[in-house]
Amino acid sequence: MAINLKVNGRIRTVDADPAKPLLWALREDLDMVGTKFGCGAGLCGACTVHLDGNPARACQTPIGEAQEMAITTIEAVAQSDAGKRISASWIKLDVPQCGYCQAGQIMSATALLASNPRPTDEDIDSAMTGNLCRCSTYVRIREAIKDAAK
Ligand code: FES
Repeated sequence: MAINLKVNGRIRTVDADPAKPLLWALREDLDMVGTKFGCGAGLCGACTVHLDGNPARACQTPIGEAQEMAITTIEAVAQSDAGKRISASWIKLDVPQCGYCQAGQIMSATALLASNPRPTDEDIDSAMTGNLCRCSTYVRIREAIKDAAK
């Protein structure tokens, strides 16, 4: 079934079951591999995208539902002013270790700063709690978000 998805401002047509997770439509059908597969169960946040500006788990979002929304991925955020500012803070504070979860972390951080430009530590911890990092870079992530918010 042909499904039109609005990805990063462009209409992209995917020929797939409406129940297919957005994560796999992005990676397999649209060759957009910046959105990562971690758990596939909505638990780790590696697959975080924005749906209508809000962070969401692409692994838990059927494309049949996503077709109603504006989908933003790390590929677009990385090119945005906000994404560049956050990435600069990530680099400055040497946040990544293995790096696998970082695209999802940056997607959540970008959404946080868009809605709350001056977050407290508690705001950051609350917004980022669903993004797991096996290397435990959480302290550096919090500092980088605060740096980007300056
Ligand atoms: Fe989607 Fe882990 S891969 S939450």
